[in-house]
Amino acid sequence: MDTSGKLHSAVASFWVVALLVCYFLVSVSGFEPDFLYPLENVTVAQGRDATFTCVVNNLGGYRVAWIKADTKAILAIHEHVITNNARLSVTHNDYNTWTLSIRSVKREDRGQYMCQVNTDPMKMQTAFLEVVIPPDIVYEETSGDMMVPEGGSAKLICKARGYPKPRIVWRREDGGEIIARIGPTGKSRLTSVEGEMLTLTKVTRSEMGAYLCIAANGVPPSVSKRMMLHVHFHPLIQVPNQLVGAPAHTDVTLQCHVEASPKAINYWTRENGEMIISNDKYFMTEINNSYYSVQMRLVIRRFHKSDLGGYKCISKNSIGDAEGNIRLYEMEIQDQTEADEESTPEGNADEKSSNNRLYNGFQGSLTETDDNKVTSDIGASSSKGALSIRASYFLRPMHLLLMLLF
Ligand SMILES: *[C@@H]1O[C@H](CO)[C@@H](O)[C@H](O)[C@H]1NC(C)=O
Ligand SMILES: *[C@@H]1O[C@H](CO)[C@@H](O)[C@H](O)[C@H]1NC(C)=O
Repeated sequence: MDTSGKLHSAVASFWVVALLVCYFLVSVSGFEPDFLYPLENVTVAQGRDATFTCVVNNLGGYRVAWIKADTKAILAIHEHVITNNARLSVTHNDYNTWTLSIRSVKREDRGQYMCQVNTDPMKMQTAFLEVVIPPDIVYEETSGDMMVPEGGSAKLICKARGYPKPRIVWRREDGGEIIARIGPTGKSRLTSVEGEMLTLTKVTRSEMGAYLCIAANGVPPSVSKRMMLHVHFHPLIQVPNQLVGAPAHTDVTLQCHVEASPKAINYWTRENGEMIISNDKYFMTEINNSYYSVQMRLVIRRFHKSDLGGYKCISKNSIGDAEGNIRLYEMEIQDQTEADEESTPEGNADEKSSNNRLYNGFQGSLTETDDNKVTSDIGASSSKGALSIRASYFLRPMHLLLMLLF
């Protein structure tokens, strides 16, 4: 390297150093403090912690202060909290970042916060602290379980607090439809209904069940309250088969469908009113189909001639009672070839000969599927009576006569 080359590099080095010195001097004394980022709005659920972060470059000898804009209260200056609030704290990361932290935020902490630098004129930026509150049911003003007579009306009320104001939606627990009355005459079937009040009018038994009011405002968790709507009505009994025939010494099942609310006491009696109790011979069950409907079953094991005759299923609740009637008769089992040969219709009291007499002519008209019109005049309380005589069973004359008389 020659002497001129050495000179050049020395000159270049001098300028680099001079520039650095200038920059340092200007940055210490010449530049004003400046915010690097805007202060960000904070939304926080009540009880949680909130933090505002203020980033200031070139602070120099100036100070950062935190101020609550609406009350003009000075909260903190530099690293010292001024206000008398133990939930507040300030931190500085020894560089350019200042934070204001509010522990366990309360509703009254909501408002505008300002990060301010004491230049002249002062520099500041503001942001909003929103305090939200998850929904909560106001139990004192919310309905509990309700009872309403069928045909009556019910007003279910659900109140909730929270911020923002919670929205209330009604649903049925089983996902069923709500028959909502819209205006004075309109009705519509909806899976959910909005509003603090759910009005049900001309309530039917199918509207009985659990209703849920669900309050939500976008702040988790949502809350709900469950209320039972009980619809009261007189028991109703439907008998699917009012005439039940079976061969002797077989097990036979009698059935009644009961609808009742409040829950009824259900039992079986013989025709003479004698109550049937569970034992080796009788087996009784009740199966719930819904809140108000029950299927009653009576199994008579290996039934005997003394078991033929009338049976009653009875249902009683606090509103009233209902009964259904079933008649049990004996049927003969015949094989089909014998039946075709010996179809003579004359009646005969003698057991052995009558056993073989068959009435093919009645088969068709007495089966459940072939002719339902036969059923409507038989039996007392039910409109849904039906005769169930299987095609392979045939009637004996005595019972046929009985049947036609009663
Ligand atoms: C912050 O919140 C205030 C008040 O709600 C609003 O006016 C402003 O637009 C928000 N700023 C930002 C950046 O979202
Ligand atoms: C039937 O309903 C009654 C009362 O509603 C209840 O106690 C019982 O457990 C139910 N039984 C069945 C099998 O659902």
